[in-house]
Amino acid sequence: MAPRVLISDKLSDAAVQIFKDRGIDVDFQPDLGKDKDKLLEVIGQYDGLAIRSATKATEKVIEAATNLKVIGRAGIGVDNVDIPAASKKGIIVMNTPFGNSITTAEHAIAMLMSVARQIPEANASTHAGKWEKSRFMGTEITGKTLGVIGAGNIGSIVCSRALGLKMKVIAYDPFLSEERATEIGVEKVELDELAKRADFITLHVPFTEATKNILSAERIAQLKPGVRIVNCARGGLVDEAALAEAIKEGRVAGAAFDVFAEEPAKENPLFGLPNVVVTPHLGAATSEAQENVALQVAEQMSDYLLTGA
Ligand code: MLT
Repeated sequence: MAPRVLISDKLSDAAVQIFKDRGIDVDFQPDLGKDKDKLLEVIGQYDGLAIRSATKATEKVIEAATNLKVIGRAGIGVDNVDIPAASKKGIIVMNTPFGNSITTAEHAIAMLMSVARQIPEANASTHAGKWEKSRFMGTEITGKTLGVIGAGNIGSIVCSRALGLKMKVIAYDPFLSEERATEIGVEKVELDELAKRADFITLHVPFTEATKNILSAERIAQLKPGVRIVNCARGGLVDEAALAEAIKEGRVAGAAFDVFAEEPAKENPLFGLPNVVVTPHLGAATSEAQENVALQVAEQMSDYLLTGA
């Protein structure tokens, strides 16, 4: 009998086609992931579960998944999957670490530019017919120092784009070797130094116990006055309340956040502050990236279900 895969989030049709082409019985129910009870009811029928971020593969779901062999996350973060629970049951969890990295890096650069020139506020004001030419004084990024926290997959692409924009790039990443830093054209520094020197900071690390509040209230107090902070990685890396205070006091000049400690973010200490640009976790939201991650996850899951590889 052909393995059965449930796609419970909005995944590109390309994934459905790949599963079909590979002889897998695929059930595409893009809204099912939001219905926890329904998911619990049906998950026992499937060998594979393909998700984005809306489906939460909790311990309860995994317990009910009596036939499940693989969970495929079309994207990078697997924080919506209870990995220890899956591992205990021998269920493989796979992600697609490369499919959306360029798109996410580009979003970080777009956010950096937006906060440097107050584009969203100027846009809203101009649409409102105000023509407030003297209200929006920006800052040049050429020659400014960008502090990159995390120079892995996405962070290193951000470094290359920032270098192309003639920024000086310094990076804090305990896993970055001096050789790799030289190769990607950045100066490897400790976090204390990055805090002191960066005119802009962008975060590109996963959310773990070690990175939680990596920009804590204490750390924010040590940042170079006038710094602007971009977070397109994960909520919880920055103490949002402390950052909001620092912005109100003028110690931090602006922030551009795509991710929040609590999502969906309907309320947040950063909302409504001047020179704070916010987007609803759009880092991976391009048609190219969604196509890439859908194709990759479908191929990987099919390989595993059909050959065990
Ligand atoms: C990811 O982890 O791939 C991104 O944050 C995209 C997403 O969750 O939609």
